[in-house]
Amino acid sequence: KTIDSLGELRGKRVLVRSDFNVPLDGTTITDDGRIQAALPTLRRLVDAGARVVVTAHLGRPKGEPNPDFSLAPVAARLGELLGQDVALAADVTGPSAQEKVAALADGQVALLENVRFDARETSKVDAEREELAGELAALADAFVSDGFGVVHRKQASVYDVAKVLPAAAGDLVLKEVESLSRATTDPQRPYAVVLGGSKVSDKLGVIENLLTKADRLLIGGGMVFTFLAAQGHPVGTSLLEADQVDTVKGYLARAAESGVEIVLPTDIVAADSFAADAPHRTVPADQIPDGTMGLDIGPASGALFAARLADAKTIVWNGPMGVFEFDAFAAGTRAVAQGIVDATAAGAFSIVGGGDSAAAVRVLGFDEAGFSHISTGGGASLELLEGKELPGLAVLAD
Ligand code: 3PG
Repeated sequence: KTIDSLGELRGKRVLVRSDFNVPLDGTTITDDGRIQAALPTLRRLVDAGARVVVTAHLGRPKGEPNPDFSLAPVAARLGELLGQDVALAADVTGPSAQEKVAALADGQVALLENVRFDARETSKVDAEREELAGELAALADAFVSDGFGVVHRKQASVYDVAKVLPAAAGDLVLKEVESLSRATTDPQRPYAVVLGGSKVSDKLGVIENLLTKADRLLIGGGMVFTFLAAQGHPVGTSLLEADQVDTVKGYLARAAESGVEIVLPTDIVAADSFAADAPHRTVPADQIPDGTMGLDIGPASGALFAARLADAKTIVWNGPMGVFEFDAFAAGTRAVAQGIVDATAAGAFSIVGGGDSAAAVRVLGFDEAGFSHISTGGGASLELLEGKELPGLAVLAD
């Protein structure tokens, strides 16, 4: 159901679940991509004269108020972007929330404090979540689910509240689902997936699924060392999930059987320590010296990955190739991003998924328009790629 299904919105109180889980340095937002992505739905509701009540989480406070996780910086930034003051309630559904909502005029926006300050939000006990959902629902006449990054969470403000109020998917959720579906349902081929990031164990379900769907899997980032170890190569002090080596061996065997091409780096930038200014050198991927750690894929690998992306028609990228936050270890991620931009210009449909890769695109200065879709979802986009049913989406379809 879309926002249109909610009918006339003027004067109605509309509760919107957004994903404002942005990276912070103290109280400074270092990447406001998720706030920007929430604007189309919020502007649309404002323009329609709704009284907009936004609920969102920030980080993982342990179910109690914690000033370090306050949404105050988000309220300020959102106000700047919307061009109107956004009142921040001091609580989630308490007296302050009720007062801020009651004070809203048509077309105004209020933000409730971090919904994870209330332990019921993430409770595994249905009745506890339902109780909080009831309190949220009492603040509104309709619900719009637009926090794509959290639709994989069965939480009160994402899932339970959608059962209590007339509910619809927001524009961001619709756009995300439509874009990711182009990869999950009948992708144009060749279909290439680039996976990076630190842990294989975060991506097991995705890899399982991609071994039956993708034509090529390009692996970089911290997780690549578990692949190199599975091939019997030394990895020095690089990130290694020793308990996943056998699983990865199984993946390599299955890929060989099914004809899925697994592309691994041929060279690695190995550093003496984990630091921006650590002494480092490029070494063959099968000869990482003892006592050194791989912090990026090497230049030959960057060129190889770009070449394996050049003729792809569908590309999904999740996870950086190296520690791109440090200049010395950003070249691999840059090469992959450039490869995707070039392939997109040549006609590929490309999706960047996962907070880190989306941040990398921005931090490394790429024009977002060079990619077909930059997802705001990390875990949510991975679970969609895994082919899972996401509770926050299923509940909207009911
Ligand atoms: C994210 O950052 O991926 C979403 O905001 C979900 O956050 P969570 O993993 O803490 O539920």
